[in-house]
Amino acid sequence: MNLPSSPLNRTEWNAELYDLKHGFVSQYGTDLLELLQPKTGDRILDLGCGTGYLAQQIANAGAEVIGVDQSVAMITQARQSYPHLTFQVKDGEKLDFYEQFDKVFSNAALHWMKAAENVIEGIFKSLKPGGLFVAEFGGKGNVQQIIQACYHSIESAGYPVDITLNPWYFPSISEYTTLLEQRGFEVDLAQLFDRPTPLEDGENGLKNWIFMFGNRLFMKIPQEAQERILADIETQLSPQLYQEGTWFADYKRIRIRAQKLG
Ligand code: BEZ
Repeated sequence: MNLPSSPLNRTEWNAELYDLKHGFVSQYGTDLLELLQPKTGDRILDLGCGTGYLAQQIANAGAEVIGVDQSVAMITQARQSYPHLTFQVKDGEKLDFYEQFDKVFSNAALHWMKAAENVIEGIFKSLKPGGLFVAEFGGKGNVQQIIQACYHSIESAGYPVDITLNPWYFPSISEYTTLLEQRGFEVDLAQLFDRPTPLEDGENGLKNWIFMFGNRLFMKIPQEAQERILADIETQLSPQLYQEGTWFADYKRIRIRAQKLG
């Protein structure tokens, strides 16, 4: 059943809401730029650039940057915010650049691209020989408590859990670095670490996060049941993830730096 009037039945990103309420996504990416070391003369691809905040930071360091994202809404917002930069709507699983970039950067985007081998192939081809790939995204165990609570509450409300609706790819270090090495990258940094992340908007934080990012899990659930299920998810998770008026998402990041051999 498709119920477009509910925020849980949305199919396109709300770029304004993303910037307003989920700005932490870009903020946390700022220290990833230290691994990237953008500098004058670098040509850098920002893969999954969202609304463009980090592309702007890269440009501020003197590099030439192209930001790509599959979401038309995100790219529209990025072009409005940073009209002097280049942004393109592009599917990260079907990149078509050829040896154009010194570096490929990606923050909080690769977990949305389930065809990881295609993505890695596209990144490899986009880079010049010797080029650098720096990325951070959700790793193995990311938002596990939130996902499990969603499944549990959906099931308790009498609806089937369809794991194919889970839109995310959260690999382990060994899984991801193996894919990179198989394609011809040399990995010199791979980390997996917890990053409990405070969500904006007080008691509504978890609900907003689910509206924004997890709506696919609820695609087949009638709207009248959704409120009840969300309330049940909050009840389940509050002992672990709600502290003094703030919800925390149980984020776990994988961070990678790799060089294209050759
Ligand atoms: C993340 O940044 O880890 C993330 C964001 C939205 C949904 C799932 C994961």
